Amino acid sequence: MSIALVILAAGQGTRMNSDLPKVLHKIGGAPMLVHAIRSGEVLEPSRIVVVTGHGGEQVGAAACDYQPAVDIAVQDQQLGTAHAVAQAREALDGFDGDVIVLYGDTPFIQPDTLERMQSARSAHDVVVLGFEAADPGRYGRLVMDGQNLERIVEFKDATDEERKITLCNSGVVAANAAVLMELIDAVSNDNASGEYYLTDIVGLARSQGLSAGAVTCDEAETLGINSRAELARAEGLFQARMRAEALEDGVTLTAPDTVYFAYDTVIGRDSTIEPNVVFGPGASVESGVTIRAFSHLEGCHVSRGAVVGPYARLRPGAELAEDVKVGNFVEIKAARVDRGAKINHLTYVGDAEVGEEANLGAGTVTCNYDGVMKHKTRIGARAFIGSSTMLVAPVSIGDDAMTGSGSVITSDVEPGALAIGRARQVTKPGLARKLFEMLKAQKRNKTQEVK
Ligand code: UD1
Ligand code: MG
Repeated sequence: MSIALVILAAGQGTRMNSDLPKVLHKIGGAPMLVHAIRSGEVLEPSRIVVVTGHGGEQVGAAACDYQPAVDIAVQDQQLGTAHAVAQAREALDGFDGDVIVLYGDTPFIQPDTLERMQSARSAHDVVVLGFEAADPGRYGRLVMDGQNLERIVEFKDATDEERKITLCNSGVVAANAAVLMELIDAVSNDNASGEYYLTDIVGLARSQGLSAGAVTCDEAETLGINSRAELARAEGLFQARMRAEALEDGVTLTAPDTVYFAYDTVIGRDSTIEPNVVFGPGASVESGVTIRAFSHLEGCHVSRGAVVGPYARLRPGAELAEDVKVGNFVEIKAARVDRGAKINHLTYVGDAEVGEEANLGAGTVTCNYDGVMKHKTRIGARAFIGSSTMLVAPVSIGDDAMTGSGSVITSDVEPGALAIGRARQVTKPGLARKLFEMLKAQKRNKTQEVK
């Protein structure tokens, strides 16, 4: 059965008090909309339609940026959830599989929940995702009739008796595309809000002799985000889940509560992550790696056996091969570092290649930027870069070559050569002592003048 996702993301999100559309606020480094798309992607949908309205261009761009295959449908006026789904009609033209409706501000629906909804479709024409609410508040209520769902009643339209129901509507719905669109055509806006409610399709389906059922999930999955406080809470829940998953996957976290993950962080088994490590988007770490305290990793790959940090920063495009060592106050960007190379202290490596077992001394800098353009530095295998060497790119250091400490290297160094680029040392016997005496005498005279 082929699947299409329709993700509703047209709402304004007034309570975020933000210029940024609500669904673009981030959790674990990705817009909440991306989390919603990802949760539906486990079903391998053949189409994904995002319905945009407020901040539509920005929302559409973010969706396509994450998943270029997304179709954008525009809902100019927010007339209700059924009206929103109706905007996807054109994008679903010719599609005869199942549609699952998700919300862009509900990022935590779990894969197995959607899979259970998909299986429930064999028993029911319309399947709704519900949850037992600790505080049912203003949620729509699921009115059951045995195993069947009779209808959904919105809080505003519910009787006192119906408001006592604790089984609530998450908003997630699954049905065949053609059936869904037909039911939506029949929805009216004759209710307390004057909106076209998607929830009305259940009662309509039943009145046409179709069947409806509910699948339930944990309330935490259906958490919607409407304010900054809820966003912060969602971030906390997300981090807790990522930490628990990492521990489950055989990763040692010395102080789990201090490690921050991105939505796509991957860490191999038997790796150790020390306290206060932050992963931005796009970081992957193989097995048996140690990331030491206070390191920041983003858009990088770290291979087996490497040790990174403490206080290291790996930026996008940093590729560390096996057994590489990157120490404190080292920043690496857009650079491949080959097996066993050591970059242990106070170093910047950007737009570079570092060969196998090369050793970069403290304070090495690849001077990659001339103020207008970026240039490449190549450092050969087993090369030894003396402390405080400035490598002015474009420049290349051959295999087994050396540079003298404090050198400014502006031209290529051939394999096996030693390059020294600094002023020759001059030593003047006794001059230091003479200078000290002169300066101390000056100071004495000055203090006497003041008195
Ligand atoms: C909806 C459900 C309610 C459920 C609750 C769960 C309806 C009528 N009610 O109510 O039963 O308990 O969600 O959170 O569906 N949206 C659009 N266009 C619109 C209207 C909404 O894109 O015209 C989007 C919103 O951006 C949001 C989602 O649909 O992501 C839900 O809309 P919202 O207004 O929050 O619905 P609720 O009143 O919370
Ligand atoms: Mg809502």
